Amino acid sequence: MDLVRDLPLDQLLLGDCVTLMRMLPPASVHCVFADPPYNLQLRGELRRPDDSLVDGVDEDWDRFADFPAYDAFTREWLGECRRLLRKDGTLWVIGAYHNIFRIGAILQDMGFWVLNDVIWRKSNPMPNFRGRRFTNAHETLIWAARQRDSRHRFNYQAMKALNDEIQMRSDWFLPLCTGPERLRNQHGLKLHPTQKPEALLHRVLLASTAPGEIVLDPFAGTGTTAVVAKRLHRHFIGIERHPAYVEAAWGRIRATERASEGAVATMPTRRDVPRVPFGSLVERGLVPPGTQLFDRQRRVSAVVAADGSIAAGAVRGSIHQVGAAVQNAPSCNGWTFWHIEQDGTLVPIDRLRGEPAA
Ligand SMILES: C[S@@+](CC[C@H](N)C(=O)[O-])C[C@H]1O[C@@H](n2cnc3c(N)ncnc32)[C@H](O)[C@@H]1O
Repeated sequence: MDLVRDLPLDQLLLGDCVTLMRMLPPASVHCVFADPPYNLQLRGELRRPDDSLVDGVDEDWDRFADFPAYDAFTREWLGECRRLLRKDGTLWVIGAYHNIFRIGAILQDMGFWVLNDVIWRKSNPMPNFRGRRFTNAHETLIWAARQRDSRHRFNYQAMKALNDEIQMRSDWFLPLCTGPERLRNQHGLKLHPTQKPEALLHRVLLASTAPGEIVLDPFAGTGTTAVVAKRLHRHFIGIERHPAYVEAAWGRIRATERASEGAVATMPTRRDVPRVPFGSLVERGLVPPGTQLFDRQRRVSAVVAADGSIAAGAVRGSIHQVGAAVQNAPSCNGWTFWHIEQDGTLVPIDRLRGEPAA
């Protein structure tokens, strides 16, 4: 099989995702968002009282003979995603109780490192027609790093800003895709049974990618990932094996405007900050010897020495060691614990890492 040398950026590829992913070069994408078949077949609770299936879930793409067949397919596509991800890349998989636990176990067995499971709580879920179990009102997203020692991207500040300056939690309350966003065929029926809301992808891509990075969606469906990627200035590669979905997705992508350049710039994350020892801030005059450092509440202070160590009373050592000692804690991130006074306000020394010399 030929290996594609230039990545098919901002393209939708028509065909089987495993076959097509095998043609792409390794370690080439920053993020994968996968919304795989749910393996919903023959589930009675998904039938309406007249025995029709809700939401057209009897699509061909959702049929697997049994759990082993589904697991074998899962191993194939997850294995290819893992090969294509860069070392610091992350994978998102969305699913429901039918499949997400199987997928979670398989991806852990492969060496992916789970960072979060996010609950997408639906504000307008489908009712349970038979009344024999709870209304299923959520889906689960697994967010995983390629491997345990990945330095994955998390745009913490962007997530906080999106949530009115409160840390973003792992339970997301968002509506299903409805209204004008929902694609419909000429009879007014839903074009795709599981079109995801753009708001969900907005949060996913804003949290875990930067402008210019590459997002792969191996089960592109109606192109929701591609649409949001384009809007947010990320590159996409989508794969979908149903021609009608690819056609609909292209229409959507073409109709999508990119946001203005300035609107998608995200605040730098800790990962973007150069890794420097504290001593280099002292050498560069950003924190001169003799400077006093404080914790956020000014309960403790320490004095900076010329060699980059700090002293709080009789305790001397690195910013991390002294930070841990004064709190009686096993460890401490001195970069965020210690603050310097600038114009009457306390600023974490972390902020000085990206600054030019004094
Ligand atoms: C759950 S849907 C994804 C929906 C999509 N996230 C959206 O917002 O429209 C799964 C999609 O995967 C496609 N699919 C299933 N098996 C596939 C395969 N082996 N290769 C490529 N696409 C596949 C199906 O046609 C279906 O559109």
